[in-house]
Amino acid sequence: MKRLKQHAIWGRRGSFILAATGSAVGLGNIWKFPYIAGENGGAAFVLLYLACVALVGIPIMMAEIMLGRRGRANPITTMNNIRTEAGASWFWTLIGWLGVIAGFLILSYYTVIAGWTLDYFALAVQNKFVGLDGDSSNKLFDALLADRSRLVQSHTSFMAMTALVLMFGVNKGLENVIRWTMPILLLLLLALLGYAYTTGELLTSARFLFSFNVEDLSWNATLIALGHAFFTLSLGMGAIMAYGAYMPSTAAIGKTVIIVALLDVLVAIITSLFVFAFVFATPGIQASQGPGLIFVTLPVAFGSMPAGLFIGSAFFLMVILSAWVSTISLLEPAVAYLNERFDFHRISACLIVAGAAWLLGLGSVLSFNEWSDQELIWGMNFRTSIDFFTANLLLPIGGLLIAIFVGWVMNIEITKHEMQQDSPYLYAVWRFVLRYFAPLAVLVIIVNGVYPVLTVVVAE
Ligand code: PFF
Repeated sequence: MKRLKQHAIWGRRGSFILAATGSAVGLGNIWKFPYIAGENGGAAFVLLYLACVALVGIPIMMAEIMLGRRGRANPITTMNNIRTEAGASWFWTLIGWLGVIAGFLILSYYTVIAGWTLDYFALAVQNKFVGLDGDSSNKLFDALLADRSRLVQSHTSFMAMTALVLMFGVNKGLENVIRWTMPILLLLLLALLGYAYTTGELLTSARFLFSFNVEDLSWNATLIALGHAFFTLSLGMGAIMAYGAYMPSTAAIGKTVIIVALLDVLVAIITSLFVFAFVFATPGIQASQGPGLIFVTLPVAFGSMPAGLFIGSAFFLMVILSAWVSTISLLEPAVAYLNERFDFHRISACLIVAGAAWLLGLGSVLSFNEWSDQELIWGMNFRTSIDFFTANLLLPIGGLLIAIFVGWVMNIEITKHEMQQDSPYLYAVWRFVLRYFAPLAVLVIIVNGVYPVLTVVVAE
């Protein structure tokens, strides 16, 4: 089996957990989770999401890490190594390709949205939220989206921050960054939760998130929860596989994944707790605000609270750090591929991949203004097409193929060997869920994600 000599191993204990948690915790937890929970009835959605993480997310994440660690290379070479070892067709190498391509495509628009958080951080530290109401906050956000050059600047800065880290490689770049960003993230999270307690609305927020009504459960919310479990755990995109390739063979995959998933869920829940406490403490704004929740609704809350300058700045700093560690993991698979397969120096590999993703991202920038009504495919503009193609197709298809490959194609002895540090009971449950339940559940997401769009297209 072809193993790459230059492939590094995490230098310090705990680095894998920090890096994988860093990849998982991002805009998905802080921007998306609170608003989709708000839109889908709060507690019912939280429960569905927890079930999806436990029953689909964790088993597939374990499989993805196992592949990376066994293959010890970038996702494409990894899949080629493993499918050769399993005597399976070249078709399975597609898992690696899908991952690298999906990561690249998501990176191109993720840095555009992450760029907004740089802008909002700048507004927060200048105390610019004071006196905002719902209307003026909406106008502020619309003005940002309409301003191409501001969007390009922040998109460029975010991409540069991301590429810079990986130019130094995994040990010197990524490991050093996660060593300080993750503890700061945790401190900011706890400080914000502590402040939310002083608003007196933490309990209302907890009730909103945890007091559960059976009537609120819906099929649509289940699908959104399942899709989100995938995105938030960074699954099906090669990121977790690429990180798994640096994991020492003595680490227990099952236990590690459970820790990462728990941390990811905790961040989403703690963030939602304080976000809704801030919202409930501010008269005239609502919890079910949609995607504008953190860019339109929260600034109003920051502008009217006593320590708004610090709390607003701390919040947007937290979003920046979490998005940064996620974009690094989106860039790594393609960089590792160029570096290992074609011997590109890491610096050139970073410049090429980040440069190409930056260029593609310009299309997403324009999708918020000039091109917002320009249809690319099936009634969607440039950015929503990429989002649809990656989130509804590439990621779930990648996840489905991973579950089928590890559950049905890979030699059972090898999977047992890779999981020998975990208990045999955990192994048996994992294998069962991976073979039967996870593929079915993911298939349902794919059909449901694509079907409504196709029926609209056919009807036209
Ligand atoms: N998990 C990240 C989030 O929740 O924001 C997004 C993400 C990062 C997805 C890295 C995929 C990935 F490879």
